[in-house]
Amino acid sequence: MEDPKSIVRRGYDLVSQVYRRDDADDGTYAEWLDLLERRVESGSSVLDLGCGCGIPVARRLAQRYAVTGVDLSPVQIGRARELVPGATFICADMTTVRFPDASFGAITCLFALIHLPLTEQPALLRSVRRWLRPGGLFMATVGHRAWTGVEKDWLGVKGGDMWWSHADADTYRRWLADVGLRVELQTFIPEGTGGHSFVLATPSSKNALAPS
Ligand SMILES: C[S@@+](CC[C@H](N)C(=O)[O-])C[C@H]1O[C@@H](n2cnc3c(N)ncnc32)[C@H](O)[C@@H]1O
Repeated sequence: MEDPKSIVRRGYDLVSQVYRRDDADDGTYAEWLDLLERRVESGSSVLDLGCGCGIPVARRLAQRYAVTGVDLSPVQIGRARELVPGATFICADMTTVRFPDASFGAITCLFALIHLPLTEQPALLRSVRRWLRPGGLFMATVGHRAWTGVEKDWLGVKGGDMWWSHADADTYRRWLADVGLRVELQTFIPEGTGGHSFVLATPSSKNALAPS
């Protein structure tokens, strides 16, 4: 089978505009971003992993925070740079980027971790723990039921095949605890016949900076 990341990169290059238009409503995720803004001090550094085209997360958060977005898809990053000139965008695989420990007051990863192979997800969560400042916030959507698969011509875009890999909600809870992220909230977000799990977590006192 083709490397899953190649499928995902090419898929988002092709579906970018269909997934989220330039003029998409900033109300998407409004409740989650309100919550983040209540918790994270203005002026903090915020990292958005799998930032897509920068809308709505980076566009909204860049009004208050120093936002860095990371995305695998050159098309998504090209659009994000145009649409949110006030933020910094890096075109890279989130599993290969490096930041100093305790760099960010918040890290978001919405509908993106589930595009990594399951074997790479715990290590990414460990990096998130390292990059968060004490008292920082991790906001993510993760899997609810375990499932790995491909959808052909996703969103009706010819050739825009997409690949996902979800663990189940209990596994994510365990992985987060293992890396020293304490889950404050985990809720089910229905979508079609399935859904995802929304997670809010903060660094626990456990020392995740020790070698794994
Ligand atoms: C469903 S979109 C979500 C975009 C944005 N977070 C949102 O919720 O609007 C998933 C994004 O994750 C990005 N992505 C997938 N795998 C990635 C990886 N390994 N590293 C960085 N970005 C990745 C995709 O290119 C895509 O833009």
